[in-house]
This record gives sequence, C-alpha cells and structure tokens, in this order.
Amino acid sequence: MFELREIEKSYPQGGEMVEVLHGVSLEIEPGKLVAIVGPSGSGKSTLLNLIGTLDVPSAGSLRFDGREIGSLGQKERARFRAANLGFIFQFFNLLPGLTARQNVELAAAIAGSEKHTARARAGALLDRVGLGEKTEAPARNLSGGQMQRVAIARALVNEPKLILADEPTGNLDQRNAHGILELLRQQTAEDRSVVMVTHDHDLADRYADQIISLVDGRVAEATHMDANGGGLDLGLVGLGLLDGLASLIRR
Ligand SMILES: Nc1ncnc2c1ncn2[C@@H]1O[C@H](COP(=O)(O)OP(=O)(O)OP(=O)(O)O)[C@@H](O)[C@H]1O
Ligand SMILES: [Mg+2]
Repeated sequence: MFELREIEKSYPQGGEMVEVLHGVSLEIEPGKLVAIVGPSGSGKSTLLNLIGTLDVPSAGSLRFDGREIGSLGQKERARFRAANLGFIFQFFNLLPGLTARQNVELAAAIAGSEKHTARARAGALLDRVGLGEKTEAPARNLSGGQMQRVAIARALVNEPKLILADEPTGNLDQRNAHGILELLRQQTAEDRSVVMVTHDHDLADRYADQIISLVDGRVAEATHMDANGGGLDLGLVGLGLLDGLASLIRR
C-alpha cells in the first residue's frame, strides 16, 4: 500500500546540498510491522519523516494506495496525514498540563472529530492501553511508560492506516518497551501497518515482520522475518529526536 521508489533527500548545508538519502526503495504492506535500524545519522528519521509526509523528497516517488503523495502541497499533505497516519515520538510530546484524556481528545479534535465522539474514543482507547484509571490525571504526573501509552492512544484515535514511530521505546525500561511493542503488534491484526525506527535489535527481531537496515542513506539490507525470528545483529546505535508536537498541531 505504501511504496517508495528511488527516494532521494538532500538538505542545504553551508551553501551546498548534502544528499542524505540516496535512492531508497521499499514497500510497506498492510498489516505489517516494519523496523528501520541503522547507525546514528544514517537517515532513519529523515526517511520516517518522508513516509509521514512531514517533509518532501528531493527526487523519487512516494505512493500510497497508488496515489503519488510525495509531490502534494502542504495543505494536502496535512489532510493526508490527518486521514491516514498516526505518529508516536520518542519523547511523547504530550501537553503536560492537559489530562491523559485531553491529550488524546485534542488529536481527534484537530482531525475534525465532534467533541463527544472525540471524548468517547479517547476514553475507550485509554482503557485499551491499560490507562482507564489515569484518564483524568495530568500528563505530567504519569510515568514514562504511561506517557508513552497515552501517546499511542493519541496516535490511534483517528484510526490511521499507518502508524509511524521514531524510537517509541527509546527511554522505557524493558518491561514497558515490550508492552508498547505488544500494543503496536496488536494494531497489525486490524490491517494497520507500523513503521518503527529503533536501535534495539532484540525488539526488532522479536516483533518486526521486516527489518530495513539503513547505512549512509542506503538500504543495506532488508530482512523479512520468518515465524521463528532470526535476522540482523549489527550492534548499531540510534538516537531519535523529533519535534512531534509541532507536527501534530500543524496537521
Ligand atoms: N533539516 C536538516 N537539515 C540539514 N541536515 C539534516 C536535516 N535533517 C537531518 N539532516 C542530516 O541528515 C543526516 C541523517 O539524519 P537523521 O536524523 O535522518 O539520522 P538518524 O538515522 O535518524 O540518526 P539518529 O539515530 O541519530 O536519530 C544527518 O547527517 C543529519 O545531520
Ligand atoms: Mg533519528
């Protein structure tokens, strides 16, 4: 459903253009969890931002259900995101003074949901991520794992076809990290796709259907996992940072 062909991305730097992605091609099928791994600076967040239409490619084609989206204008991309995508960021980007429920409701409101619909959905989703008892707690009082679950509920509230996650477990302990991956895994059962950037190879091995390894802006290796796992062990490091809240509000 999502198809990237020969995607290139350059950024201006010191008066010239520096190419960060050099012809990346990949497909994301419905109901699949895809992990993107690779060293710091290899272009993982850049790639995720392009898939998420937060940025536009310098060359190449980006198709969603057959429709070219790489060249859409800013407003059309915002509409596309609101209708199809959900974002989860490493540092959650919750509004600390709002309650868990309000944080989720806000995302629905931005996408145009009616107030009572937004409220009902937010409550149901927070129940589903195990935070039924924390819906009225200010986000600032939640633990890291709880905040990340609110962020996931927020990413799901508009029923996205594709969920994009940049280091969603980056600052969680193992138990919470597995909990988050279980939740993302459950989404694929409803034919949603998940693309997750991670530096945790054990998590990728265990939960991903497909692992894409980026090195210096190129796909170095794409592994389709079999039922027994297996795959890569490159010992790579990543540090994902994103200004996600801005993107949420922009859409
Ligand atoms: N807006 C930008 N302007 C200029 N250069 C950029 C921009 N965004 C990213 N880059 C450069 O592109 C390269 C890839 O960055 P990117 O953030 O995609 O890496 P990454 O693989 O996500 O790394 P990390 O694991 O550290 O998060 C880096 O060299 C970075 O400096
Ligand atoms: Mg990154």
